[in-house]
Amino acid sequence: MEKKLSFKILIIDDDNLFLNYSKNILQSNGYDVEIATNGKEALQIFSKNPGLYRIMLVDLLMPVMNGIEFIKEIRKISRDFYPYIIIVTIKNETEILSQSLDVGGDDFIVKPINEKILVKHIESALRKLTFINLDALLDIPLKLLDSKDKYTTLHSENVKIYTSILTKLCFEENLIENKQFDTFLLEIQEAARLHDVGKIVIPDFIWMKPGTYTEEERRIMQLHTTKGAEAIDAALKTHPENSILKTCYNVVKYHHERWDGKGYPEGLKGKEIPIEARIVAVADVFDALTTRRIYRSEYPAHEAIEIMINEEDGHFDPDIFGLFLKYKNLFIDIAKTKLKKQLEEIKKL
Ligand SMILES: [Fe+2]
Ligand SMILES: [Fe+2]
Repeated sequence: MEKKLSFKILIIDDDNLFLNYSKNILQSNGYDVEIATNGKEALQIFSKNPGLYRIMLVDLLMPVMNGIEFIKEIRKISRDFYPYIIIVTIKNETEILSQSLDVGGDDFIVKPINEKILVKHIESALRKLTFINLDALLDIPLKLLDSKDKYTTLHSENVKIYTSILTKLCFEENLIENKQFDTFLLEIQEAARLHDVGKIVIPDFIWMKPGTYTEEERRIMQLHTTKGAEAIDAALKTHPENSILKTCYNVVKYHHERWDGKGYPEGLKGKEIPIEARIVAVADVFDALTTRRIYRSEYPAHEAIEIMINEEDGHFDPDIFGLFLKYKNLFIDIAKTKLKKQLEEIKKL
């Protein structure tokens, strides 16, 4: 079975039967597992590569170092990574269970363990590990960007709206595989908002230049993809399970790739380009054309679509672009209403 995670689940128990039983269940459900027979051994395993073990199943009564001592120790030494600890307990261990939750256990499961319940606890751990209030956090770089340039903020909001609609349509037409609709929609909306965040590091004289770019200026401008992605990658290193960050990374880095392989930064081709970046690419170009830029005024929405059709020479995923054209009137209507509102807002600046 295909591996589900980039990290391992560590099971710590002195009971060999339980170790093998739970290891088999988790492995057959696609998880990578390592085992230890007491707390001390588990600490040694963890210390060698702390980022590798993000979920642990911890028995309470073990020789050498018991569960409570182990949890205390882990919480002391693990500053950069937060392992999610599921305590494995038996009935009537209430007192010791409550102590272990006090010292840093996150959840517990009672033996004998049923396969379905164990897998549900792991899935719940993954959801909690992923949950950071990212929406609020991602606002911080966007606010900085906003103080430099209001157009980019409006552009990011618009791209988010077009992306949401296009994503829903892609799901309806079964163009997106192996993704869960609600989760993916949330992820791609954040990513669309953030797609040009790397522009913060581009010097103003290039970014705000009214004329055409020189070769060198164009090269620098293109760095907004890799610079933005590098910043997200730093967060991903400490939260590799966070699928929102992963989607943001893919969109920020690859939204200027082209279906024919002539885009940047890596020249990825066709389905090598993550689906989230292929969707945002269409939304991005449509909004860029329908929004006033420093070097030109905006095109009316229907004209923007004509330009996209006439100039389409291998830029977009043909299925996604086809869907966009099929529902073009929807996008035209939104652009018209948005544009009117935004022109009023810009006048106030
Ligand atoms: Fe961009
Ligand atoms: Fe953009």
